[in-house]
Amino acid sequence: IQVHFRSEDGSVKSAVGTDGDSVMEIARNNGVPGIVAECGGAAMCATCHVYVSSDWLERIPPMSEFEDELLEGTGAPRMENSRLGCQIKVSDTLDGLEVTVPASQY
Ligand code: FES
Repeated sequence: IQVHFRSEDGSVKSAVGTDGDSVMEIARNNGVPGIVAECGGAAMCATCHVYVSSDWLERIPPMSEFEDELLEGTGAPRMENSRLGCQIKVSDTLDGLEVTVPASQY
């Protein structure tokens, strides 16, 4: 399952993960810069913030109330397509997912 990580300077890094991995884990396992993930995926730090490309927004599972609250505390401005990378688990239907990594997580 491939995920494309676009940075704000426009460069794209593609990384591969397996079913059930989170977008944050795939980034971390593949050295994608910009995903800090301080809390290690416990949905506590909001430093795994990503912007989901509009084509994919409707296909990813909806966010929990908890994620919604945490997104209020992100370093980069929250947008309509903001999600926490650790809360998006990939599966075959998300193969090719594209997200943008904010320039800074603080
Ligand atoms: Fe901390 Fe996602 S890794 S909230």
